[in-house]
Amino acid sequence: MRITTLFFHVSILFGTALAATPGCGSDPSTLHAGVNNLTVNGKSRRYTLTLPTNYNNTNPYRLVLGFHGLFETMDYVAKDGEIKPYFGLQALADDSTIFIAPDGLNSGIGTGWANENGEDIEFVRAIVNATNTDLCINENLRFATGFSYGGGMSYSIACTLSQEFRAVAVLSGALLSGCEGGTDPVAYYAQHGVRDTVLPIESGREIRDTFVKNNGCTVGSPAEPAAGSGQHILTKYTGCKDDKPVWWTAFDEGHTTIPSNSGSGTDKENTFTDDQVWAFFSQFT
Ligand SMILES: *[C@@H]1O[C@H](CO)[C@@H](O)[C@H](O)[C@H]1NC(C)=O
Ligand SMILES: *[C@@H]1O[C@H](CO)[C@@H](O)[C@H](O)[C@H]1NC(C)=O
Ligand SMILES: *[C@@H]1O[C@H](CO)[C@@H](O)[C@H](O)[C@H]1NC(C)=O
Repeated sequence: MRITTLFFHVSILFGTALAATPGCGSDPSTLHAGVNNLTVNGKSRRYTLTLPTNYNNTNPYRLVLGFHGLFETMDYVAKDGEIKPYFGLQALADDSTIFIAPDGLNSGIGTGWANENGEDIEFVRAIVNATNTDLCINENLRFATGFSYGGGMSYSIACTLSQEFRAVAVLSGALLSGCEGGTDPVAYYAQHGVRDTVLPIESGREIRDTFVKNNGCTVGSPAEPAAGSGQHILTKYTGCKDDKPVWWTAFDEGHTTIPSNSGSGTDKENTFTDDQVWAFFSQFT
């Protein structure tokens, strides 16, 4: 009885502060901006941590994990190169967000997210643990996104870690990293090219529909642009449970990380990807 009363008062006094991680209130002691590592399943795993400028240890930040595709590494996501850092999300986040790019293992065909016996999910759990302990994060505001194999890994996270992650954004993904669980609702953004010959759009629709169902959205057939139209169409499903939206963007390109309406592949400056994913993630508070 007394514990209940105390908890009630604390909730009123601190409100959302209860969602802050134990790492709030002191400076990081084990993690640092740049490459960090930990051991999972007997294997050394690496990830790049990108902190906001003037990191403030009493501010519970959003956390976004960004996963690379097959044959790539964490550098593809974390560094400015073919794409802007974190698919362009870092620039839009305006220092409101901590970003992490995990590094995939080589499973034989190349680096990626085979998630053998769940070891990549275990890696994500370990990252959540390490960041909880050492950084100030809002536990209600963890997100995952990734391209291709990294989209498959983001889907796997939605399936298995629905308690830890508020929303995911699957960029040209498919069922590639398994789906342990997969029965809970999770806010879900996905985009896919109608001319994708690597992971055909059917494979993106199929995994999307897991969350159309779990989130209780009204099933339908979202409009998709014709090949050659140079367009993209964003559909926001209706009827979804509170806080569990599903957005689907079909675009007139192939297997492209950051497409634009130009129809000519990756387009760092004119892509709609960063704006749409950021609009999806930043609606959660
Ligand atoms: C992590 O990195 C540090 C410093 O580079 C290194 O000394 C350590 O052996 C690494 N640990 C693992 C588990 O890879
Ligand atoms: C740090 O974050 C807290 C909580 O958001 C805020 O109240 C405080 O003003 C911030 N400090 C600085 C120096 O910005
Ligand atoms: C995370 O931390 C909890 C509590 O300390 C621990 O029981 C669990 O094994 C940890 N998991 C990982 C994957 O590190």
